[in-house]
Amino acid sequence: TDSPLPDDFTVQPPVVRPRRLRANRAIRRMVAETLVDPGRLILPVFVAGGLTEPRPISSMPGVVQHTLDSVVAEARRCAEAGLAGVMLFGVPEHKDAAGSGALDPTGILPRAVRAIKQAVGEDLLVMTDVCLDEFTDHGHCGVLRTDGTVDNDATLAAYAEMAVVHAEAGADVVGPSGMMDGQVAVIRQALDATGHTDTVIMAYSAKYASAFYGPFREAVGSSLQGDRKTYQQDPANVAESFGEVELDLQQGADIVMVKPALAYLDVIAKVRERVDVPVAAYNISGEYAMVEAAAANGWLDRERTIDETLLSITRAGATIILTYWALEYARRHR
Ligand code: PBG
Repeated sequence: TDSPLPDDFTVQPPVVRPRRLRANRAIRRMVAETLVDPGRLILPVFVAGGLTEPRPISSMPGVVQHTLDSVVAEARRCAEAGLAGVMLFGVPEHKDAAGSGALDPTGILPRAVRAIKQAVGEDLLVMTDVCLDEFTDHGHCGVLRTDGTVDNDATLAAYAEMAVVHAEAGADVVGPSGMMDGQVAVIRQALDATGHTDTVIMAYSAKYASAFYGPFREAVGSSLQGDRKTYQQDPANVAESFGEVELDLQQGADIVMVKPALAYLDVIAKVRERVDVPVAAYNISGEYAMVEAAAANGWLDRERTIDETLLSITRAGATIILTYWALEYARRHR
C-alpha cells in the first residue's frame, strides 16, 4: 500500500475511553453535570392597556403583548408547567415625560398582578419590572432634566413609589432594572416603611448597554432615541460588574442578575464565584430573536438550540433564568 506510516506501525489502544460515558441516552443523562430545572425558569410577559386581543410582537415570533385576560391565562399555564414565576412588563395606553402611569395603582401592571395572584395563589411567583422606560414618552429609564440628561435622584423617588404600588398589588418579587445609583436601597427602604418586609428584590445588578435589547423596544412600544450608555454598563467591563453586584448586596438585594446572558457568560460565571446569593441571568429579546429567525430560515435546529442555550447559561453558573422560552421548555421536558 502507499501508507505514509512505517510498516511496523500499530495503533496502541487507548487505556482511557471517555466515549464509554457517551454511548447512549441513559448514560449521558446519568453523567450530565448540569440540569435545567423548569422550577428555576421565569417567563417574561408583556401586558398592555387598551388591547381587546393579544397583539403579536413581530421581532419576537411567538411572543405577544397580552390583554388582562390573556395574561392571566398565560400565568395559569406557567403555574401548571411548574415554572418559578412570571416577570411582568406593563405597556400603558398613554406615556408621558415623567412616566406617571408607572405610579398609578389602577394601571395595567398592578391590575395584572392582582388578577394573576388571584388566579395562581402561591403556585407561581409574580414579579414586576420596576423601571420607567415602558411608561415614558422619551423611552428612558428615568426622568429627564431640562438638558435631556437622566436625573438619578428624581428617578429614585419614582422607583420607590412604583415598587410599593407593585407590592400592594401582591407582587412577590420586584425587579429594579433601571441602573440608577442607589435604586435597591431606596426600594428596600420604601418597601419596609410600608410593611412589605417580605417582598423580594431581584436586582438587575450587572446590566449592560446592549444592542441585543432591540426587539424589547417593539415589545413595550418604546420610542427611545439614542442609547442608555450613561446608566447601563459598558460591554468592555467585567470588574465593574463586581462593584455593581456588591453595591446591590449592601443595599439589600436578595438576588442579583446579569443581563444579557449569552454574550456575558463570563460575567455570570465570575459573579457566581463571588457571591453567596442566587444569581439570575436574563436570556433577552435579541437572543430569542436571533435563534427564532435562524430557525425560521431552516438554518438552526430550533429545539436543540434552545436547549443548548439554557444549558449553557445554567452551566455558566446562573441559578435562575429569565427566558421567553420558559413555558415551552418546561412543557417539552416534563
Ligand atoms: C428596562 C428593561 C429592558 C429589558 C428588561 N427591562 C430594556 C432595556 O434596558 O433597554 C430588556 C429585556 C429584553 O430585551 O428581553 N425596563
